[in-house]
This record gives sequence, C-alpha cells and structure tokens, in this order.
Amino acid sequence: MRVAALALAAALLAAPSAAASEAGVEPIAGPRLAYVLHCMGCHLEDGSGAPGRVPSLAGVGRFLRVPGGRDYLLRVPGVAQAPLDDAALAALLDWLLARFDPAAAAAPGFAPFRAAEVARARALPLADAEAARRALLAELGAAGDPAEPAPR
Ligand code: HEC
Repeated sequence: MRVAALALAAALLAAPSAAASEAGVEPIAGPRLAYVLHCMGCHLEDGSGAPGRVPSLAGVGRFLRVPGGRDYLLRVPGVAQAPLDDAALAALLDWLLARFDPAAAAAPGFAPFRAAEVARARALPLADAEAARRALLAELGAAGDPAEPAPR
C-alpha cells in the first residue's frame, strides 16, 4: 500500500506546477504531503478508507468529545508509528481535522495538537486499537450520538 501511495505521490508531484497554483488548489507540501506519503495508501485521498477495514476519517473529530479520545487519535498505530517527527505529526493531525472534520477543528474547545503531547502519547502504543476504538464509539453512542453508531 505504501508503494502505491508513493507512486501516486510521485505522479501528483510531477503534475504541472501551474495546476497546483490555481486558486483554491492546496499545494502538496507540509502536512498534506505527509498525508499523501504515509496515510493515503490506507485512508485514501478523500479519507473514505475501506469499509470494514479502514475507518473513514469523515467526522473523526467525534473522538475529541469523549475522555480518552484525543489520546486514541495520537496512539492509533497509523498515527503513532508514522515516520514523522512529533512536530510534523502534530501539524498533520491539525490538518487532518481541518480537512476531514472542519466543524470539529473550528469548535471553540478545540486545541491544536502540540509536539510535546504527541511525544508523550505515541511513546505508549495501544495494545489493542480495535478494542479501544470500539469502547470509544460505544461511549459516544451512550453520550447520545445517533449519527455514529458502533460498527457491527
Ligand atoms: C496500514 C493502513 C493504515 C495506514 C498507513 C494509516 N492508517 Fe490510520 N487507521 C488504519 C486502521 C485500520 C484504523 C482503525 C484502528 C486500527 O485498527 O488501527 C485507523 C485509524 C485511524 C484514525 C482513527 C479514526 C477512527 O475512526 O478510528 C486516525 C485519526 C488515523 N487512522 C489517522 C492516520 C494517519 C494520520 C495516518 C498517516 C500518518 C494513518 N492513519 C495511516 C489504517 C491505516
């Protein structure tokens, strides 16, 4: 998958630069480039993922509404193990929230991710990411979030 992402990234980078500088087109650099290189192979360009295997990133900010959810976002393997330094990973997560859950990123309570918190959290890998995810989604369900039922 990573190879496919790299091939696609190379193709995107080789595209005429005029296309990238058109108004409204986000350049492929910084956090977006990190996403293309390290995340898109599984989560896809539009964040839709693969049903039953890779979760969609749409509405990913819901995890910020329950205790432990922010920690989960930092410790889930694809994030914690990304070959990025703590500051780059913090910037990627801010970008990811803004890109895939703009409402959550713009919410008054949202605090941008910081390199120090990334460093602390990623040092403690999740023993069972799926179980942690299920528990958080159940918590969200219990908190009265009809839009996000727990996965079957
Ligand atoms: C090898 C495939 C793969 C790659 C690469 C990957 N992820 Fe994931 N991601 C997953 C899977 C599968 C889950 C569900 C939790 C689990 O089982 O690890 C997940 C969960 C997540 C979640 C939590 C969303 C949820 O609904 O549980 C976030 C946020 C996330 N990934 C971000 C990223 C970022 C950012 C990157 C790149 C730095 C990345 N992922 C790379 C497969 C991947």
